[in-house]
Amino acid sequence: MRQITFAELDSGQQTDALNLVYRGYDQPFQVSPEWVAEHLYTHAIDTSRSPVWLDGRGAVAALALLALREGRGWIGGFGVAPAYRGNRFSGPVLRETLKDLDGIPVQLEVLVPNLKARRTYEKGGFQITRQLVVLEGPPGRAEQSLQAAGSPCWQRQAASLERLKDLVWVGRSLAYRGHQIHFVGEGATWGALAAQASLRLSNEPADSPLHRQLLGLGWREVARQYEMHRP
Ligand SMILES: CC(C)(COP(=O)(O)OP(=O)(O)OC[C@H]1O[C@@H](n2cnc3c(N)ncnc32)[C@H](O)[C@@H]1OP(=O)(O)O)[C@@H](O)C(=O)NCCC(=O)NCCS
Repeated sequence: MRQITFAELDSGQQTDALNLVYRGYDQPFQVSPEWVAEHLYTHAIDTSRSPVWLDGRGAVAALALLALREGRGWIGGFGVAPAYRGNRFSGPVLRETLKDLDGIPVQLEVLVPNLKARRTYEKGGFQITRQLVVLEGPPGRAEQSLQAAGSPCWQRQAASLERLKDLVWVGRSLAYRGHQIHFVGEGATWGALAAQASLRLSNEPADSPLHRQLLGLGWREVARQYEMHRP
């Protein structure tokens, strides 16, 4: 095995690498070069600190994506290629990703059914801090207020939203793109979104007033994740 960084792969190789290591993931995961470029930029992934392992033939065996901003870290991608799974390789991959990060808190999300990944993260010192839910459903009436959202996960923090292209802001209280809601602040009403048939909200804390309100409107849970932190 040879170790390089994600920065050393070109855009096509980065895309292929992510699609390879996420094969068999619990949720459909097939990304495009455009998605990868936006993911790296929006969420501050430091590709030069994101390790990639290549096997003897130069094929990707494992990788992790590490983001760093405002004194915190986030793992925004992690996987072992199918041919190399089941060999306890994920532990060393995590250790290498976290090396030199002593004193820097790191967080990540893991799907609830993903027991192998959760086991790896727990062994690496991560603890579950809360649950995040991906939801889809119909909007309320235009004049209805939205309830308070929970404290945002990494992808929905201001530093990510500032970098997201084509985000539509309604005052300072609501931000969306297409049918995906990215931000709900104080005073938000459904407004023009009321005309949409179905909307999506990713990684809303499971105990938030907004989550409860959306369930009441008939939204359904598409996925549930644990947010984990390593202090
Ligand atoms: C998750 C993933 C990285 C784990 O790598 P792996 O090579 O399959 O798993 P490993 O051999 O490293 O085993 C990891 C741990 O899970 C344990 N494990 C294996 N099967 C398990 C199961 N069904 N339930 C619970 N734990 C299990 C292993 O025993 C090991 O723990 P241990 O060292 O204490 O024994 C890999 O399966 C993968 O890339 N999956 C697709 C992408 C993905 O899910 N990424 C994580 C995103 S959060």
